[in-house]
Amino acid sequence: MTTTAELVSGVVTNRVKPLVRWGLTHAVPSRVLKDGADKGDLQARLTVEAQNLSPEEIAELFSQIRAQGPLVRSTFSYVSVDHAVVKEVLSSTQFRTGFPGDDRPAISRLVQWSRREGLHPVEPPSMLVTDGDDHTRYRKLVSRVFTARAVEGLRERTEAIAAGLLDELAAATGPVDLVAAYCEKLPVAVISEILGVPESERANVLRMGGHAAASLDLGIDWSTFRTVDGALDEFDEWLGKHFDHLRANPGDDLFSTLLHATDDEGRLSERELKATAGLVLAAGFETTVNLLSNAIRLLVEHPEQLAGLRADPSGWGNAVDEALRYDPPVLLTGRSAAEDTEVAGQHVGEGSMTTLVLAGANRDPQVFDNPDAFDVARENARDHLSFSAGRHFCLGAALARMEGEVGLRAFFDRFDVELLPGAGRRPTRILRGYETLPARLVQRSN
Ligand code: HEM
Repeated sequence: MTTTAELVSGVVTNRVKPLVRWGLTHAVPSRVLKDGADKGDLQARLTVEAQNLSPEEIAELFSQIRAQGPLVRSTFSYVSVDHAVVKEVLSSTQFRTGFPGDDRPAISRLVQWSRREGLHPVEPPSMLVTDGDDHTRYRKLVSRVFTARAVEGLRERTEAIAAGLLDELAAATGPVDLVAAYCEKLPVAVISEILGVPESERANVLRMGGHAAASLDLGIDWSTFRTVDGALDEFDEWLGKHFDHLRANPGDDLFSTLLHATDDEGRLSERELKATAGLVLAAGFETTVNLLSNAIRLLVEHPEQLAGLRADPSGWGNAVDEALRYDPPVLLTGRSAAEDTEVAGQHVGEGSMTTLVLAGANRDPQVFDNPDAFDVARENARDHLSFSAGRHFCLGAALARMEGEVGLRAFFDRFDVELLPGAGRRPTRILRGYETLPARLVQRSN
């Protein structure tokens, strides 16, 4: 029988803590951001309005921030859309990931107290917000699977997966939603094969990932917060079961390797294991789906550039980088100063947050000529910061580039595409891409 103490403890864990956490990390910041946006604070506007803006509209906001200088003090943090500053901060050892400890101890203690016990992509021990030796240890264990060379070995298999999905698309009659039928399915299939996730689980993984995507956002409403929390709990439990299965039936996939890493290799605790494996799996498709949908839209809207790529397929790699530059899947990231320092001639005090707008750095006219033009032949397209920079540079960049190249080329070789009304962007703020992209497809004759 459940005792009163257990009952109270359950209510505190399941009801009170989430409410406190939501209030402190979303409700209050959201109110402050909305007020800031109403008063014209540019960073607040970026956070509040970004999700409703197209890449063309958001570029206007970047220009306004740029006009105020390379590092702008906003009400909430410093913000930069300057390529050199964004790169410098991301590469600096004087900045760290995650939020600084709050200098108001009561709030800080309350945030700590209300922390989730389970997985969260932007709470330790997630690699994204871990620095120092632990970060090196996590990264080393998984990185060899994602080197450029290892990824080239996956190209043929990716082509075969893409061809299978395109066969299914060709068999469809009438309009299709390209996100559900292609852009999501390709990356989830590829990362699942690398990680040993069976085919029967992929739809489930996609569903959980979709619900958890807003976990990177600030200022989400209560209902979204509960959906995210529920999806993260479910994902946590699913990972545990999947690990049990792989412990009993190991394969030659990355998850099996991680589970059997020895102490010499830097064995991970169960919690670290889930955080690392969960991040690689989720990051492996949540962003690449956006790359594919954003790039399809751009190429359909620039038919002369698409015709050039069909005539000379050697340009596809660069086209992927230009799509990443022009409409990146990750809008921004943040760092906090680990000590008093100076950036772009300005003093930045220890603990100060800096918002680094990757999408804004990609439009810096000091680096990119005519930055607001989409140009698949742009010589330095690859200088974009869409994969971040420094120690946390995207581990999956080579894989994402390869999937983008294979996925887009195969798609446009097979079909002529007419985009139909009804396209909608995802409701997330940091992850940017399409939720639906309705289209009519006509098979090409060659
Ligand atoms: C177009 C697709 C992708 C984009 C735009 C992208 C973007 C990013 C960005 C911006 C970061 C760093 C965030 C920061 O500095 O705060 C990052 C980190 C990461 N990405 Fe990706 N990513 C993509 C695909 C992938 C794929 C396919 C994988 C699969 C392995 C992956 C795995 C990771 C991991 C594990 C990290 C954490 C690295 C660390 O903290 O050391 N990403 N990604």
